[in-house]
Amino acid sequence: MESLNEMFQDVVQDIHSAEKQIIKALPKVIKNCKNEQLKSGLQDHLEQTKSQAERIEQLCKTLGFKPGGKMCKGMQGVLAEGEEHLGSAKPGPATDAMIIADCQKVEMYEICNYGTAAAWAEQIGMAEAKQVLGQILQEEKDANELLNRVAEGSVNQQAAQVAEMSMDGKAKTGSASRKTSQTPASKASMR
Ligand SMILES: [Fe+2]
Repeated sequence: MESLNEMFQDVVQDIHSAEKQIIKALPKVIKNCKNEQLKSGLQDHLEQTKSQAERIEQLCKTLGFKPGGKMCKGMQGVLAEGEEHLGSAKPGPATDAMIIADCQKVEMYEICNYGTAAAWAEQIGMAEAKQVLGQILQEEKDANELLNRVAEGSVNQQAAQVAEMSMDGKAKTGSASRKTSQTPASKASMR
């Protein structure tokens, strides 16, 4: 690959492949969620991901190249790892915490790719592409923030309580009161 134009096309095809793989993988992840906020957040993100794939397809049409024909191996690896984690898991707080961790790896990968693609689009003077890619980049950042809020607001604490209970055979004194005290959502932005 020699030109930024070719590299841009390549990264957009990579993005499209990643979105298609996520659309396939998310239903099983959602089925294994116990936490309602997590479940509905991922359900919304699945719908959003379908719309992202369509917007990328439309963008490719406008720019005159095909979106398909490339397999994003990076996303394939990230999703395979998540699938492996789900293999033996039972729905519950610990599995929810694992799902969030794995979904955040997906979001980070997407944030990298959309950030690169948007910057390259700007550099080569593709204003419309820059706008579309920048918009989706923001959606991925928002999805990651939501995962932070769910993790720090409830799921991590619930997962820790399950661990305490299985270590003691019963809940430690004081964990009942901690059950109701939620970490402020604003803490997530401190990450
Ligand atoms: Fe996405």
